Amino acid sequence: MLNRGGLVAFPTETVYGLGADATNPTAVRKIFSVKGRPHHHPLIVHLADMAQVEQWADPISPTARLLAERFWPGPLTLIMRRAAGVSDAVTGAQDTVGLRIPAHPIARALLRAFGGGIAAPSANRFGRISPTTAKHVRAELGADVDLVLDGGDCDIGIESTIVDVSGARPAMLRPGRITAADLAEVLAAPLAQAQLQSPRAPGMLAGHYAPRTQLRLVSIEHLPAAAARLRATGKRVAVLASVAVPAATYSIAAPVVAIEFARELYANLRCLDDSGCDVILVEAPPDQPEWAAIRDRLTRAAHAEPSVEP
Ligand code: TXA
Ligand code: MG
Repeated sequence: MLNRGGLVAFPTETVYGLGADATNPTAVRKIFSVKGRPHHHPLIVHLADMAQVEQWADPISPTARLLAERFWPGPLTLIMRRAAGVSDAVTGAQDTVGLRIPAHPIARALLRAFGGGIAAPSANRFGRISPTTAKHVRAELGADVDLVLDGGDCDIGIESTIVDVSGARPAMLRPGRITAADLAEVLAAPLAQAQLQSPRAPGMLAGHYAPRTQLRLVSIEHLPAAAARLRATGKRVAVLASVAVPAATYSIAAPVVAIEFARELYANLRCLDDSGCDVILVEAPPDQPEWAAIRDRLTRAAHAEPSVEP
């Protein structure tokens, strides 16, 4: 299917990807039209092993090697200077390319069988919730995707950590399971402050990862009262919280461990969105570093308007 220029959705340990042959601009353009994603937004190229990286990135800096050795295969995407011949369709005509060697056994088997790079964003419509099951992919994209490989539930549940290693200092563009502290432990130099609202990474724009229903983040101590107030005005309230909220019309018990919260986050947001409620209240996550990626996704999901192009 990939050789014929088709779209194949596949599981990774983070979320499901919508894949196409990264060297086939026609196939890559199909990804953009199916997602409804602006064409200049670059895609991540997924690879089977380090030997393939040399065909896509040049140079491979010592910092890139260090991070690759420690975290690949795994939930890390590295932004590197692109090698000659890498298609503008994939890079959004930038001089860099996003690369990732995923760890999921089905993704790896697919990459090995295909033999080349697979360009893949998360397999959702632009700005919406990333899929963490094959069913989500079908529900979201229907017949627009030629094939969906079913690998069950994704283990990590939120997108990969993105580190830009194309400049003088590495910078984290998107937090994920691999935290700033994990990266700092491996790197000699400290991470540069990521540029918020960078147009280079649309996943960083407010309004991403959003359900259709309005979502609000409320601290745990204010949540029961906030739900009761909304209920009193006739609103049906869906709640994701670690405490009981009597006024909730529909509620899901939130895991108190960050890794588990992340694993279930997108499936939970879909359930809350499908519950038919008027508003979703989510308990604001703790301030600790292991919750950083979750705070990031929830803050963006809480923006009412879908992301607007800069
Ligand atoms: O976990 C993941 O990363 C999943 C799985 C399928 O690998 N993929 C994913 O792709 O989340 P996507 O397209 O939804 O998000 C990738 C982000 C986008 O915000 C994109 O702009 C950014 O990576 N990106 C890709 N190449 C880039 C580049 N050369 N420079 C800056 N940002 C880049
Ligand atoms: Mg995405």
